[in-house]
Amino acid sequence: MSVYNIYRMHKILVTGGAGFIGSNFVRYIYRNRPGWQIEVYDKLTYASDKSSLIGLEDRVSLTVADICDENSINEAVARNDLIVHFAAESHNDNSLASPWPFVNTNLVGTYRVLEAVRQYHKRLHHISTDEVYGDLSLNDPSKFKPDTPYNPSSPYSSTKAGSDLLVRAWIRSFDVQATISNCSNNYGPYQHVEKLIPRQITEIIEGRKPKIYGTGDNIRDWIHVEDHSSGVLTILDKGKIGETYLIGANGEKSNKEVVETILELMGKDSKDYELVNDRPGHDMRYAIDASKLNNELGWQPKFTDFKKGLQATIKWYEANRDWWLPQKNATEAKYKELGR
Ligand code: NAD
Ligand code: TYD
Repeated sequence: MSVYNIYRMHKILVTGGAGFIGSNFVRYIYRNRPGWQIEVYDKLTYASDKSSLIGLEDRVSLTVADICDENSINEAVARNDLIVHFAAESHNDNSLASPWPFVNTNLVGTYRVLEAVRQYHKRLHHISTDEVYGDLSLNDPSKFKPDTPYNPSSPYSSTKAGSDLLVRAWIRSFDVQATISNCSNNYGPYQHVEKLIPRQITEIIEGRKPKIYGTGDNIRDWIHVEDHSSGVLTILDKGKIGETYLIGANGEKSNKEVVETILELMGKDSKDYELVNDRPGHDMRYAIDASKLNNELGWQPKFTDFKKGLQATIKWYEANRDWWLPQKNATEAKYKELGR
């Protein structure tokens, strides 16, 4: 067993490190753990971008491979001390159109990661979502807690729920040294334009109207991606093996509120959006109670001013058109077929 100690130099494997949250986490670790070597392990699907890792080459390497590939994942796990597992198919709309990649990557891929960490006795942190708990109604005062029963709605959330259960079973049955976190909706730089916030910002930049599904009353609990990264590092440093921690920053907002704020910050009329076809099975509300992480590990979010975080995110998309433009047309073509 490689003993994890924050004061030691470590080799860390980040699966899905060329995606949105993974690449932000890699930057965060690069800045906050100057002695660590980081290996990104990523299949480079449509959702990834190697250029999100530019400038980090002295301590970050990239292995282009699939987590479902037994030999490649075994070799990569064997040469590192700790593994943070972000790799997943992550978009609900895609999971409704084509569930198989979600079953394969999120379930079979996580199984491969687990078998590798079991074989080589490595420390694992598994990244998951609050969507495993299903949804809450708008007038329900409660929030998700670590013991809320799993009740996922979509192929995405059900395969993430399944991956969490595999991790729990491998901890209990095989003594795998792992922790799990379930985080709320992330926003910030390097997020694919298929997701709510970057889609609307880039639609406005392109001279079109934002598109809200259904009535727009659905609520998501927003957290800045950097706060997600600091939560994960806190769990790596101080988390108890076998435990699940919920990461959230009390950021509940309706989709309408989010889009209206984006419009306002971009100098447009806040009502200048379109209501489009709803998502089948659309979850109504997510809300995280992060008190376990706050009280037991002393973690607190820093980016709690949503408007300020959104303004910085808008600026990033305005300044980085070259990063998102290659993905934009294909993404909108997919949405057009769905009437969204
Ligand atoms: P993303 O889609 O932006 O990135 C996923 C990355 O995984 C991509 O780089 C992709 O190439 C890689 N990948 C996909 N399949 C792979 C495979 N078979 N082998 C190797 N690499 C593969 O997703 P994201 O939004 O950054 O989410 C990352 C993780 O965080 C996921 O596990 C997701 O469930 C979880 N999460 C996301 C959010 C959110 O708001 N986006 C919230 C909570 C949890
Ligand atoms: P999304 O970013 O896809 O994340 P998730 O489905 O994981 O919550 O969507 C966030 C919310 O925004 C969700 O309620 C669906 C809604 N939405 C829109 O209203 N319009 C859009 O164009 C998109 C992509 C999402």
